Amino acid sequence: MASPRGEFSSRFGFVMAAAGSAVGLGNIWGFPTQAASNGGAAFLLVYLLLAFLLAYPALMAELIIGRHAHANGVTALRSISRGPQTANVGSLIGLAGIFTVSMILSFYGIVAGWMIAHFCSSLASIVGLDPLATWLVDFSFIRNVGFMGLFMFLTAAIIAEGVHDGIERWSSRLMPILIVTLFLLVGYVMTLDGAMAGLKVYLLPDFGAAVKPQLIVSALGAAFFSLSLGAGTMLIYGSYIPDEGKLPALGGWVTGVDIMIAVTAGFVVIPAMYVALNNGVEIFGADGSLISGDTLIFTVLPALFDTMGTAGVVVSLLFFALMTIAALTSSISMLEVPVSYTIENHSYSRRRAVYLIGFSIALVSTLILFNFDALFGLVIAATTRYAQPLLGLMYCLFCGWVWHRNGILEELRKGQPDIEQGLFWAVWPWYIRYVVPAIILLIFANSLLN
Ligand code: PFF
Repeated sequence: MASPRGEFSSRFGFVMAAAGSAVGLGNIWGFPTQAASNGGAAFLLVYLLLAFLLAYPALMAELIIGRHAHANGVTALRSISRGPQTANVGSLIGLAGIFTVSMILSFYGIVAGWMIAHFCSSLASIVGLDPLATWLVDFSFIRNVGFMGLFMFLTAAIIAEGVHDGIERWSSRLMPILIVTLFLLVGYVMTLDGAMAGLKVYLLPDFGAAVKPQLIVSALGAAFFSLSLGAGTMLIYGSYIPDEGKLPALGGWVTGVDIMIAVTAGFVVIPAMYVALNNGVEIFGADGSLISGDTLIFTVLPALFDTMGTAGVVVSLLFFALMTIAALTSSISMLEVPVSYTIENHSYSRRRAVYLIGFSIALVSTLILFNFDALFGLVIAATTRYAQPLLGLMYCLFCGWVWHRNGILEELRKGQPDIEQGLFWAVWPWYIRYVVPAIILLIFANSLLN
């Protein structure tokens, strides 16, 4: 390994790890349902625009800062600051990122635990343990804490192995499995009666529904959440890219894979809902809109699997395995953020940092589970709707206004000596300075006024 802090050993390894971080519950669960209830293809268009025009440039800001510093977020932002004051602001933003990502992991671990429980429930019904299968899908405190704990333990076990043997190795194994499973599910769902009706809802655009200001704010939050931005995960993964890596292309790959998986997941989830309708399962809420959120994943889809006999059990196993893998490759990127900071700035050993921080976050999750109604939605909204876009904005401001332009150019040249002649360098520096901050602020102002 070239660097004592660890680094990705290949382009494939980095893309799998970073795309693994980006591809998660947000893609497979969040995106398809939001698209279906908000104008179908029109939402897709808004989302694609936001992904390429906002999220990709913001992702590049994190990757470049990280790769330049080869250090955690706090140290990295300090290293590109111009004086003690901006350095202190940098520390503060780095720490806010660490706090935000830890809170995201605290709710993400709960949801991922549900996925494992549903996976185990399908296994239990295969071997005829029906009472266990029922217990596993019941919303009990014990089940919730137990499976959240199991998921956190898996996450910690991977991160304890380090960048190459943990993050890169497991992402490179799990992501191809995820992609193959997803395509298998698309192929199967499309053969079922009712799927075509779902396809129409997914693909026919309704622009009236998609351009509502409120919706654009949620599409912005969704795009930032989906690409894991503003939480410092992409910065820390960037810090493990060797100097020879071509950053704009690497970022392009990650954005492309993330969008591809989200769009593909739409070809499973939406048609599956209409197959469910065809089989007599209710898919519309009291107000006439499509059921989404947890009711969709944990009530509508399982009800659909039940109507499908033996095939239903297999599909259910595959679906919840897919969700668990997607969650795990994301959660490891989250845990790495506080862990790398604690190792580098407080001289902890990796193992000690991993288990201490993993345990603390699991405690926060338990607290959330104790006060589920009051805390769960609150933590999600505070972190994903507000903290992520605002912190993402800060990284852009650091790149655009604090860091010297020459420093950025020098960093990009390491992997691409002719970068100055290309389109990326012609557009990105002023784009990240003016356009990205302006759009994020406008969307926020708009949401406050509405
Ligand atoms: N991108 C992940 C998803 O779409 O589910 C969620 C996520 C991962 C958010 C890592 C934030 C983060 F730092």
